[in-house]
Amino acid sequence: MKIIAGNWKMNGSCAGLKEMAVALKNVMTDNKIILCVPYTMLNCVQADNFALGAQDVSAHDKGAFTGEVSATMLAETGAKYVIVGHSERRQYHEETNSIVRQKATAAINAGMIPIICVGETMDEKQAGKTMAVIESGVRESVPSDSNTDIIIAYEPRWAIGAGLTPTEAEIAEAHKLIADTLSSMGLSGTPVLYGASVKSTNAADIMSIPNVDGVLVGGASLKPDDFIPIITSVK
Ligand code: 13P
Repeated sequence: MKIIAGNWKMNGSCAGLKEMAVALKNVMTDNKIILCVPYTMLNCVQADNFALGAQDVSAHDKGAFTGEVSATMLAETGAKYVIVGHSERRQYHEETNSIVRQKATAAINAGMIPIICVGETMDEKQAGKTMAVIESGVRESVPSDSNTDIIIAYEPRWAIGAGLTPTEAEIAEAHKLIADTLSSMGLSGTPVLYGASVKSTNAADIMSIPNVDGVLVGGASLKPDDFIPIITSVK
């Protein structure tokens, strides 16, 4: 069983999500499907054979934080998952590992499963810092007392939306480091997804790499014709 998660980012519509839900009804799979959609779409459909998630959450529980949405509010919609620390949040909203950890903690406290993203930028890659950035990302973004379900997503930031993917050896090395780091934190068995330019033509190969427990798909998760072949490419 693999986890196939979609991140719609700021795309789509209620109508589009309804179409996806209908299309997913006919998909026979043992894989776990998660769709992380904009807040406004969380109440658009009854998620039957897939789960809904959000793409961000406030670190705060309630109060004067205009524009923010708390984990309790998200949980109330029925959403089970929330992405935290996506590279676009880190890049455009200056989210640090410390903020990401606070958000993950808020999600866990509300009974949700955070999908915690880590990954290196092109500058960090070129400076030979990939492994250090990944390891500190995991150590500093994952709540240390997590004794509950979490998911990690490794997203090399330079490859997102760029049609670029690391080599299989690079993915294997990153995922082994993440698995070892989680294990040293007492969190072995935590699923680790790969994300960045996943499509139907590379999904099966990527998911056959050791320690890759699934994928987090951006652009190719928006339309059933692109997303469903990714789900069915892995038996
Ligand atoms: P793409 O699949 O469009 O590269 O996006 C990856 C991503 O950011 C998923 O969270």
